[in-house]
Amino acid sequence: MAVNFPYLDISNCNASVKVAQNGAQIFGFDRVGEPPVIWVSPEAIYKKGFPLRGGIPICWPWFGPHPEDEKKPQHGFARIMSWELEDFSDSDKGVTLSSFSLSESEDTLRLWPYRFRLTLSVEVSKALTIRLNTKNTDDRPFEITQALHAYFFVGDIQDVEIEGLDGHYYVDKVKGGEEARQDGSLFITSETDRIYRHTGSCRLIDRRFGRVIVIDKKGSGSTVVWNPWQEKARQMADFPDDGFRNMVCIEAANVLEDRVRLEPGQEFTLEKRIEVDSL
Ligand code: BG6
Repeated sequence: MAVNFPYLDISNCNASVKVAQNGAQIFGFDRVGEPPVIWVSPEAIYKKGFPLRGGIPICWPWFGPHPEDEKKPQHGFARIMSWELEDFSDSDKGVTLSSFSLSESEDTLRLWPYRFRLTLSVEVSKALTIRLNTKNTDDRPFEITQALHAYFFVGDIQDVEIEGLDGHYYVDKVKGGEEARQDGSLFITSETDRIYRHTGSCRLIDRRFGRVIVIDKKGSGSTVVWNPWQEKARQMADFPDDGFRNMVCIEAANVLEDRVRLEPGQEFTLEKRIEVDSL
């Protein structure tokens, strides 16, 4: 890891989690004696102001490319700004709470002309629960799209099944935005980049690791599933050529028509809970 890359290392009897000051990005969730839950690229760049490949980047206040200006950072700016540690508390029951915040600055106002307060709360127990709260502190309404873009570590992508999306419609970005309906479980066998209209949970069944990762969420009407597969992986400087075999992103999001509009003073929380069970 690079020097000058501050992060908080949270550890209790149940699990350990790392949260970078850059982007309040979680880049590790480990449970004692088990393979990591979260994938982090071995070629990730640990540098302030740069997105870190892997972990749980926060995409905010827009998801994907900026709708009008492609020169603005992909997935917004929250993941490349420096956040403040607000609170930290530890219980003897193996639950650790921490929270981080980001508000407008000259840099953010240049990219997005609104005042806001963004708070990420991180609860580490046997499970990892993260809550991203957006408060509109401006005197005008604003709209956001967002995602908690978790990269999950898997034993072998060819042995993975994702349950919970059956019957849900999705926009297929690999097929130019074509709409389709999921039939049964999702198996990843090629480049996958989909936005599901979906409010429920997902179960990531990993037979190699003999475990299931249960992903619950609140405040989210869209679930994004992404795996770049071989060709796209090769094109990314911070992604090993064969890294696609050991990861899949399942993101709790608000995108497309599921945007969040906040009046002055209003707030909204997007929550994601990650639990691991054995098969
Ligand atoms: C996913 C998007 O959420 O993130 C993909 O749906 C995108 O289209 C991927 O390629 C990675 O984005 P980035 O900016 O971290 O390379």
